[in-house]
Amino acid sequence: MASGQLSGEVAPLDGLLPADRLENLHDKPLSFYLHVPYCASRCGYCDFNTYTFNELGENHSLKWLDGVKQEIALAKKVLTTGGPKNGGIGVTPKISTIFVGGGTPTLLEAEDLVQAIAELKAAFGFEPNIEITTEANPDSVDLEKLQALRAGGFNRISFGMQSAVPSVLKVLERTHNPENVSKAVSMARTAGFEQINLDLIYGTPGESVEDLQTSINAVLALDVDHVSAYALIVEEGTRLARSISKNEIPHPDDDDMADKYLLLDKAFSENGFNWYEVSNWAKPNSDCQHNIHYWKSSNWWGIGPGAHSHVNGVRWWNEKLPRIWSQRLADGQSPANAREVLDSKTQGVEDIMLRMRLAEGIAVSKLDNKIVEQLVEDGLAQIQNENLVLNLTGRLLADRVIDSLTD
Ligand SMILES: C[S@@+](CC[C@H](N)C(=O)[O-])C[C@H]1O[C@@H](n2cnc3c(N)ncnc32)[C@H](O)[C@@H]1O
Ligand code: SF4
Repeated sequence: MASGQLSGEVAPLDGLLPADRLENLHDKPLSFYLHVPYCASRCGYCDFNTYTFNELGENHSLKWLDGVKQEIALAKKVLTTGGPKNGGIGVTPKISTIFVGGGTPTLLEAEDLVQAIAELKAAFGFEPNIEITTEANPDSVDLEKLQALRAGGFNRISFGMQSAVPSVLKVLERTHNPENVSKAVSMARTAGFEQINLDLIYGTPGESVEDLQTSINAVLALDVDHVSAYALIVEEGTRLARSISKNEIPHPDDDDMADKYLLLDKAFSENGFNWYEVSNWAKPNSDCQHNIHYWKSSNWWGIGPGAHSHVNGVRWWNEKLPRIWSQRLADGQSPANAREVLDSKTQGVEDIMLRMRLAEGIAVSKLDNKIVEQLVEDGLAQIQNENLVLNLTGRLLADRVIDSLTD
């Protein structure tokens, strides 16, 4: 738990937030994250809150939508309660962004996802340029489903590509055939999606530089407007971590990861993409607004099993098990298990941790001058428009830079 928190406490059953945190909701954009906790099979590296239907033993999709509707009603009640300054009547901003993630959202019927979006619109209203993204597995979409999603308001889609090389996908235990990515992208275009992201993972044991180049070429050939490339993280408790500890496969290598990051950045920046966050590159005007709101500590409500939320320095997280999450909502209770109410100092530290990852950086005035000078002298960052911004070497060492600014 970070230092300086006012409390780390059991979340109240009614889900209400401290009244002072409900002032000024209009100062920041409002976003929603919807978590779909289902996957056809579990990838060996993944520790997200997701369950296969075998693990669950029954079809939960209808219960997901029921729970989502109930949690939207709870969010509406909580966010319109209002702080003391406005006499207990809150006026919430309209929604700026929605992100449906998982798990594998596209394992659900398109109608369920579309109905969840319609419920949010009815409850809060939408800003005119709302961004509505869904994650999708290349194997769980067809043209009909993509058309239904597009017609239902989704205007951005993110496919989990990870790699274009079968042997790398095998180590990751991905089930999709690499050819399905180009089919999925082409169907998404036919369905009317203009904003398309591909997720890559780099540094998988056994992935050669040529393999990564093959994946990069495949991304570039698909002419998408956004790419996220994540260094493979070996998460405790996963099959990948077990295989590595038994020496069945080697641990990802830090120098190899750094070389691959440089390769990715060169390829994307030479082909019309700009980095706007350490792991994210986009064509002009195609940055993911939802993620930017997250990195700028805006307000977002996470709906679904295990989802995390943040409103004006209050962070809370939901019960992870889908069955208990839905039961709590059906009983009229908040599904939140615990929360942290952050004081302004801790919020300031978190703001530095998140904003420093962005290409626009953070105002030097919010930072320790001596450390800023040292980072510039060490060739890790530069000052641009009075903000401290990571340079390429600094991006490779982003965690270390951020530690030095927040210790
Ligand atoms: C949790 S998945 C959800 C989307 C979808 N189920 C999929 O896998 O494509 C979101 C993204 O997180 C990334 N991810 C998950 N676990 C990771 C890990 N251990 N290391 C690096 N990236 C990871 C993958 O790139 C994945 O596309
Ligand atoms: S499909 Fe996505 S969410 Fe599901 S196990 Fe694989 S990486 Fe995790």
